[in-house]
Amino acid sequence: MKNNCAIILAAGEGTRMKTSKPKVLAEVLFKPMLDWVVDRTRQSGVEDICVVTGHLSESIVTHLDEGIETIMQHERLGTGHAVMQAKDFIARHGDANVLVLAGDAPLVDAASISSALKLHKRALNAATVISAKVENPFGYGRILRDRDGALLRIVEERDATDAQKAITEVNSGAYWFKAQALLTALEQLQTAHKMSPPGKSKEYYLTDTIAILAKLNLDVTAFDARTSHVVLGANDRVQLAALNEIARREELNRHMLNGVSIPCADGIIIGPDVEIGADTLILPGSILRGKVTVGTGCTIGPNALIENSFVGNGVCLNATQCAESSVADGAQIGPFVRIRPGSTIGACTRIGNFVEIKNANVGAETKIAHLSYIGDADVVQDVNIGCGCATVNYTGKEKHRTVIKDGAFIGCNTNLIAPVTIGKDAYTAAGSTVTEDVPDNALAIARARQVNKKDWVSTKKPYKRQNV
Ligand code: UD1
Ligand code: CA
Repeated sequence: MKNNCAIILAAGEGTRMKTSKPKVLAEVLFKPMLDWVVDRTRQSGVEDICVVTGHLSESIVTHLDEGIETIMQHERLGTGHAVMQAKDFIARHGDANVLVLAGDAPLVDAASISSALKLHKRALNAATVISAKVENPFGYGRILRDRDGALLRIVEERDATDAQKAITEVNSGAYWFKAQALLTALEQLQTAHKMSPPGKSKEYYLTDTIAILAKLNLDVTAFDARTSHVVLGANDRVQLAALNEIARREELNRHMLNGVSIPCADGIIIGPDVEIGADTLILPGSILRGKVTVGTGCTIGPNALIENSFVGNGVCLNATQCAESSVADGAQIGPFVRIRPGSTIGACTRIGNFVEIKNANVGAETKIAHLSYIGDADVVQDVNIGCGCATVNYTGKEKHRTVIKDGAFIGCNTNLIAPVTIGKDAYTAAGSTVTEDVPDNALAIARARQVNKKDWVSTKKPYKRQNV
């Protein structure tokens, strides 16, 4: 089998992140760093993935999808030791190439991974390290080359001389290895470690495999990636914020180059799994997170929050929150609307200020202009819902659905006590509390008749009302 595979190292504790979660689940643009690395691995065409877990292993295993193998590193003895745990996985891909990636460097991109593989294959390398030049190399492993530019080895910050510390080309922590060469190098790393003098660092550096392979006269190369972002990792929340800002700018640029208008980027955060059509305008304070698709010619914001939703063409979402729902073409929504999970909003609907929709289908051309709650409901189409209406969906024990058929007109301040059906073209009188189904074309009046008590004020009022 000639399937290339990937090992992602994710056993680190991330003490400096000060989090109760594993470090690799810290988020960049609302997406865990580990998911960035997994997605980019897949984008580069590698499907067989093994994640090495350690600290809070359970939560990583449950987080990952089932197609990904995991292996536990019981003691965290360094990156070399972490890869040793995956020996069987490597052996199963014996004649292929193995990509090793760090779970805490989310901005490694598919293009760099693929280009490095091309070079790796063309040069018949035993190992190819993805490197980049950075302004501040502190903390990274430095790339040591000979006079001709050939890669010699990688030296870690703590072992580097002052001259080596001045080198700005650093190790990204991403490598391609020939599977057999990696197994040989790991074995030698283990032997060398056993023979190392007592007191020396108990860590196994994966970076040492480069010098080991070079000594065996096998070819090793450093592939200089186009962008310094490939190396950037986050060990604390300050670095995490820096990664967020870099990724945020990259995403905004991607959308602008696709024809999306972002006249002012203030407070706009767009996750990496968002697609937006041309001629859509994104206004300040808007956040689009998770898997979101927005069509063409929409206006999103100011201050919209859209999560895991589908939005059609020509939609306006002004100061609106929309989660796990879909909104069809031409809908005009907001300001101050909340669309909760499980809702579908039909084409050319108008939903206005202070309306909440939950787990409801709102059919095309429907108007819900102000101050209403529509939950667990099926509103067929072309319905008019007046101001201040509520579907009363919860008995305190169970939830029930409300059905409002085509062309119905729900008067202001109507309560619809579910389960209840309002027929086609039916009306409800303002202020009604409707407990029974209303037939097609009927008017339901469900309120006490008004009584005017003549001269009540002069007979009952004990004293004159005073202005205070
Ligand atoms: C490592 C590299 C360094 C490189 C840098 C890039 C080594 C020795 N150094 O340093 O050359 O410039 O990455 O980011 O490899 N991990 C495990 N098990 C362990 C230790 C680490 O799974 O026992 C995982 C961590 O969760 C992390 C990754 O390996 O995702 C890198 O480990 P980390 O300790 O962050 O290495 P760096 O010091 O950043
Ligand atoms: Ca790191």
